[in-house]
Amino acid sequence: MSSSTSWRHLSSESNKVDEPFKVEEAETVNTPPPPTEKLLVLGGNGFVGSHVCKEALNRGLAVASLSRSGRSSLHDAWANDVTWHQGNLLARETLKDALTGVTSVISCVGGFGSNSQMYKINGTANINAIRAASEQGVKRFVYISAADFGVVNYLLQGYYEGKRAAETEGLLKQSY
Ligand SMILES: NC(=O)c1ccc[n+]([C@@H]2O[C@H](COP(=O)([O-])OP(=O)(O)OC[C@H]3O[C@@H](n4cnc5c(N)ncnc54)[C@H](OP(=O)(O)O)[C@@H]3O)[C@@H](O)[C@H]2O)c1
Repeated sequence: MSSSTSWRHLSSESNKVDEPFKVEEAETVNTPPPPTEKLLVLGGNGFVGSHVCKEALNRGLAVASLSRSGRSSLHDAWANDVTWHQGNLLARETLKDALTGVTSVISCVGGFGSNSQMYKINGTANINAIRAASEQGVKRFVYISAADFGVVNYLLQGYYEGKRAAETEGLLKQSY
């Protein structure tokens, strides 16, 4: 006669049958580590900037934005995870607070208008930002520029001259 061993057994102290040991299923808590990279998106409430902010949040970065109007007009939930700063890149001192603790900057600031306005917004504003970021030791600066197809240059002279001036400033700061 064969005997089989069961993992249910009789307790030696009493005659009651021990219940099988219940193992609670461990709950997996997905808490990502706090972000070590902080990205400042200049113009994060604009067309390109808002996509950059959303994508950066999806990748686990801490994200802040600076623009003249400040907070996003978007009502999407992700916008609540961005730290919104109000400031004007033409007034350089307004950048100082926003740059605190920042490791990378992406500038999506640019626009159209008269030739002098286009030079200011695409050129001067971004040159100010590049210099301020460099002075504060920001590791990386990305500038969203525009390809020059040479077709309507005479209408957009200030736009492209501004873009090229900002690109040159970025190249001058060798770390960028
Ligand atoms: N969209 C395109 O198809 C396209 C194509 C080629 C290149 N680009 C380039 O990509 C960049 C972004 O374009 P976009 O279409 O996203 O433009 P956009 O929607 O007009 O956004 C521009 C952003 O810049 C901010 N801004 C403007 N002046 C500022 C200042 N003085 N200080 C601080 N923030 C300022 C605006 O916010 P406030 O008004 O609140 O300040 C806004 O957030 C531009 O450089 C543009 O030339 C865009």
